[in-house]
Amino acid sequence: MKEIVLRKFSEIFGDTDGVKVFFAPGRVNLIGEHTDYNGGHVFPCALTIGTYCAARKRTDRRLRFYSMNFEQAGVLESSLDELVPSQAAGWTNYPKGVIWAFEEKGMKLPCGLDILLNGNIPNGSGLSSSASVEVLTGAILRELFGFAVTNQELALIGQYSENRFNKVNCGIMDQFAIAMGKKDHAIFLDTADLSYEYAPIALDGAKIVIACSNKKRGLGDSKYNERRSECETALAELRKVVDINSLGELDRETFEKYQSAIQSEVRRKRARHAVCENQRTLRAVEALKKGDIAEFGKLMNASHVSLRDDYEVTGVELDTLVEEAWKIDGVIGSRMTGAGFGGCTVSIVRDEAIDGFIEKVGAAYLKKIGYAADFYVVEIGDGPVTLA
Ligand code: GLA
Repeated sequence: MKEIVLRKFSEIFGDTDGVKVFFAPGRVNLIGEHTDYNGGHVFPCALTIGTYCAARKRTDRRLRFYSMNFEQAGVLESSLDELVPSQAAGWTNYPKGVIWAFEEKGMKLPCGLDILLNGNIPNGSGLSSSASVEVLTGAILRELFGFAVTNQELALIGQYSENRFNKVNCGIMDQFAIAMGKKDHAIFLDTADLSYEYAPIALDGAKIVIACSNKKRGLGDSKYNERRSECETALAELRKVVDINSLGELDRETFEKYQSAIQSEVRRKRARHAVCENQRTLRAVEALKKGDIAEFGKLMNASHVSLRDDYEVTGVELDTLVEEAWKIDGVIGSRMTGAGFGGCTVSIVRDEAIDGFIEKVGAAYLKKIGYAADFYVVEIGDGPVTLA
């Protein structure tokens, strides 16, 4: 991949003098969905697939971007004096947003950049291709300009840029999982205070399989922000009767006791998901620590049911992938992952069942939905790296 981006860089930008190559992963969340903006826990991991980039400093203030994933867009040009989001800027709103965020935080760039990207995360799949680009951009700025920022700060800057520049009210999970990724480990993160621990994922005789529904989604045009505000309203209603700062502070029993303070059935369901999903995540990590992978799988399945029925972020595509997966012997657990409304499912599948899983779920999906799903057997990888 390094050679591919270098070759393309030379073709597009003339030569490769002073170029460095970088990589940042994508991520998959094993459990803890729509909890990260509710002060709950998440359990994601970085993947070995992600975004590669060749970049170098310029002598003027121009910014030139090229993505091998959006070749039809050609070279998109901008400048450090033009750091405002625009529709015409397309995908470059993500790196531009991070440059803007660095500058907002006092890290001014002395000169512009030429940046060429090539990602192997399917776009819009819910594996965080955009957060990958954000963390990648931060890692490039750190390396090329010598800014003193930690990986955790790269995550926070990425989220800040997405919230403020790209106007998507995302939580911290994606950027954190990517910036803090560790090979063969998932990250058990408490989003209330960003304390975290790494948990080894040793799936004896099983693998993580991602099924991509190929129903495209972008957070901006999804109901993501709507779910977020439903939870905020539910929290405000609960706070009239119980002293809490976030839904993540409630256990199920306390929630049951006070839930009647929430004035609409829809908001009650949203809040119930946020509370119970957080509790499931705690139990799932406990189960994993005990080596009880079967219990972990059951909690993944329960997570999907809650996302389908209470949070209502699945849709026929994700439900078909998951419900077909549940029918197969050797599937330990299966659920949607990411924001939902399209994107991917994550399943833990015994080695000997993987081929059959892909064949059967794939055929049932094609028959019901009318187009094919894609399957990836993935591995857990590290956070961002400079390759050369
Ligand atoms: C998206 C957001 C995350 C998180 C998930 C749902 O991926 O970017 O912050 O809220 O959805 O768990």
